[in-house]
Amino acid sequence: SRLVVLVSGSGTNLQALLDAAADPAYGARVVAVGSDRDDIEGLRRADRLGVETFVHRVGDYESRAEWDVALAATVASYAPDLVVCAGFMKLLGPAFLAEHAGRTLNTHPALSPSFPGMHGPADALEYGVKVTGCTLFVVDGGVDTGPIVDQRTVRVHDDDTAETLHERIKVEERKMLVETVGRMARRGWTVEGRRVLIGAGTA
Ligand code: GRF
Repeated sequence: SRLVVLVSGSGTNLQALLDAAADPAYGARVVAVGSDRDDIEGLRRADRLGVETFVHRVGDYESRAEWDVALAATVASYAPDLVVCAGFMKLLGPAFLAEHAGRTLNTHPALSPSFPGMHGPADALEYGVKVTGCTLFVVDGGVDTGPIVDQRTVRVHDDDTAETLHERIKVEERKMLVETVGRMARRGWTVEGRRVLIGAGTA
């Protein structure tokens, strides 16, 4: 399978996919890495391995809608089987979803439907949950609301800060991403309503 990965920051989730894809048996390879901003570690991780990169800055376009159309077209040019948002900090718009919905995944550092949005770990800590975690889901038009593919749990420690909690979540998140994207790539998957089915019996 051909993966396009979208990043906006450090790209440790991307790095986990790049490392896994080095094994031909993994069944997927990262054909391109895209971002909404320049000069981030995530793009440098791709450069180091000779993986093609592209950047679409919202500010370079007349409107958000035009950015959305441009991003959708660039991603389509790589003929992806899966698009993985791994720390991508922009909401994908209607043009992108028209082109790529159903094959676009996102990972969120909380147990959906709890704590959607930009501050999942901080919101979980604030609420006082004892268990949080991360969610892999199929992107739809909402904020972290799409059909859930996989989830992992992480216990909250009494002395956690939002940062220490997020780093511990990211350990589980990288494992979830590598294991489940690999299974989807090797075995195929379908979405029926809000249920995502991987492997045997899928179309
Ligand atoms: C991940 O926890 C992702 O779920 C969240 O931001 C973090 C990105 O981390 N949206 P990295 O850039 O993959 O290191």
